[in-house]
Amino acid sequence: MAENSVAVKTAGRTCGDFPEGKRVWLIGCKGMLGTELARLFERRGVPFTGTDREIDITNPAALASFTEQEAAAGRPIGWIVNCAAYTAVDRAEDDVEFCRRLNVDGAANIALAARNAGARLIHFSTDYVFDGRGIRDAASGGEPRPYREDDTTGPIGVYGLTKRDGENAVVENSPRSYIIRTAWLYGLYGNNFVATMLRLMNERDEIKVVNDQRGSPTWAFDLAALALEIIRADLQNRPPAYGIYHYTNEGNITWYDFARQIYDTGRGLGLVTKECAVKHCTSAEYPARVTRPAYSVLDKTKIKAALGVAIPSWDMSLRQYLKALGKERERT
Ligand SMILES: NC(=O)c1ccc[n+]([C@@H]2O[C@H](COP(=O)([O-])OP(=O)(O)OC[C@H]3O[C@@H](n4cnc5c(N)ncnc54)[C@H](OP(=O)(O)O)[C@@H]3O)[C@@H](O)[C@H]2O)c1
Repeated sequence: MAENSVAVKTAGRTCGDFPEGKRVWLIGCKGMLGTELARLFERRGVPFTGTDREIDITNPAALASFTEQEAAAGRPIGWIVNCAAYTAVDRAEDDVEFCRRLNVDGAANIALAARNAGARLIHFSTDYVFDGRGIRDAASGGEPRPYREDDTTGPIGVYGLTKRDGENAVVENSPRSYIIRTAWLYGLYGNNFVATMLRLMNERDEIKVVNDQRGSPTWAFDLAALALEIIRADLQNRPPAYGIYHYTNEGNITWYDFARQIYDTGRGLGLVTKECAVKHCTSAEYPARVTRPAYSVLDKTKIKAALGVAIPSWDMSLRQYLKALGKERERT
């Protein structure tokens, strides 16, 4: 190991060195995914600095001065992992300008900062860049097939539109970037579907969940591990090609199916402490400010081939998550 370098451990193994004091800048480190990444980096000995709102991504000068300050202090930024975004899908419809400032201008600013610092960038995007009507081709036999990275986008709401424009801004401003589209994210930190379901199931005798939107739940821990895997591959001089990748847990279901599994597993683990009937409804019966994509399954062939990773199934990851949640609740 070269002097001034730090070894990164993955699954108990040392997987590569961070050269010349270089480190990761984790932006949006207090959000759902950012907190998961920060905890993973800590556990694996990844040298990183986490920032959130204190370095405003809409302020390019603040980003530039942070990278300069870190370089001057002997901690040059080698990788930026950006988890900061405007993620309130319904609120975005009434907050278009602010949403765009974060998801488009913010993404562009970060990409430019990465390029100027000579750093690689991992940026996250969403299944909402697609219209959710699905693509049917000769091979899919009339059924929609999972979206591939090069399928035409067609966002149906402000959030999806700004995330799509943000992807383009990243590509334009920093050629050394990985854009990871994910979907139906849940984790230990912050609001998400699983946490909401557990709360409602403990409060109510009956809940209704939509059964006409299909996608793939994704545990933030698995996505964080994937981001670390990209860095690890780079440290081992086998970086995947830059560009857009899809990553979710394996399998696809409806929100209703997901809620049923949350209930069954949650009951078994003592996280749901009373009977609750989980019933299904249609999206028309449960109107939201923004229409959600009806079909948002993402094809993950590209990331699996690039990294040689096996992706956990949605139900296995849900079980692991609920177990971790139970332990977390016991601790606090
Ligand atoms: N959540 C999902 O279901 C989902 C699905 C697909 C893709 N994604 C993508 O995955 C990524 C991570 O999502 P997430 O759910 O972890 O997001 P999140 O929980 O909303 O976290 C975003 C973080 O960015 C911070 N932030 C907001 N404005 C900022 C600014 N101007 N400068 C610096 N930081 C700022 C937020 O602070 P405040 O909390 O104080 O605003 C928050 O800590 C995003 O790119 C998102 O689009 C998420």
